[in-house]
Amino acid sequence: MDPFVRLLLISILIQAASSHKIIRILPSYDKISNGEGQRFDDGLFCDSWRLSVETNNAGYWATIPSRCLGFVDAYMNGDRYASDSEVVAADEIDFARRLDLAGNGKDAWIFDVDETLVSNLPYYIGAGFGSEIFNETSFDEWVDLAKAPALPASLKLYKELQGLGFSLILLTGRAEFQRNVTEKNLLFAGYTNWERLLLRDASDIGKPARIYKSEKRAQLKRDGFQIHGNSGDQWSDLLGPPMATRSFKLPNPMYFIK
Ligand SMILES: *[C@@H]1O[C@H](CO)[C@@H](O)[C@H](O)[C@H]1NC(C)=O
Ligand SMILES: *[C@@H]1O[C@H](CO)[C@@H](O)[C@H](O)[C@H]1NC(C)=O
Repeated sequence: MDPFVRLLLISILIQAASSHKIIRILPSYDKISNGEGQRFDDGLFCDSWRLSVETNNAGYWATIPSRCLGFVDAYMNGDRYASDSEVVAADEIDFARRLDLAGNGKDAWIFDVDETLVSNLPYYIGAGFGSEIFNETSFDEWVDLAKAPALPASLKLYKELQGLGFSLILLTGRAEFQRNVTEKNLLFAGYTNWERLLLRDASDIGKPARIYKSEKRAQLKRDGFQIHGNSGDQWSDLLGPPMATRSFKLPNPMYFIK
């Protein structure tokens, strides 16, 4: 913009603002309100919706709003998802480096698997980015392929934590019958030398993830592990006693697991 025009605009804005008690920083409300009939400003609404789901303000949700399909597609396939993931990973490594480790092999860091270590985006591209009801049959067929790629920020973090001397515990909602394909997939994606891979056994089937994962963390504590960090794309990976010293929520605007 021409510097003179910009200056003129700023002075007009200052004049306008000083004549009101409140400087209006928000667009008019009717542009945001989420009446499904409205198609304009979907991007603005969907960005706010994403903040709400990532902070867990939204609580449980089954599918993404249909008007946000294009937004989630652009988010996942564009630079934002990678960038958001890298910023979280930088916070994680920063925290990890400041810790005093016991150095006894019991300094643990927990990772979830799906949308944390590996990405199922190739599957979700064919499943409407979470706009369709979850189909366990077709998802399990995808899992059997063992071809989910690594999330680059997580792979880098994983290796850095290993270098610092952490024992890495992989705690997934996948079931025991998927152990072999899960190991195969992790190796395919570049992950090696985890301390334990914990999957749901028969007694865990049907438990909410939050309960199942809390129980597994309790077991790890009984086994002498100090759980310094926990990385997951779902709040149910992180919440519930006992919690890690620090829990890190990775982005995932495609699905919610209780
Ligand atoms: C779920 O996926 C399976 C396997 O791909 C398919 O046969 C079935 O029709 C799907 N179910 C629904 C409700 O889409
Ligand atoms: C999993 O792998 C182990 C060791 O490679 C093998 O003995 C076992 O039969 C496999 N299980 C299944 C369900 O494929």
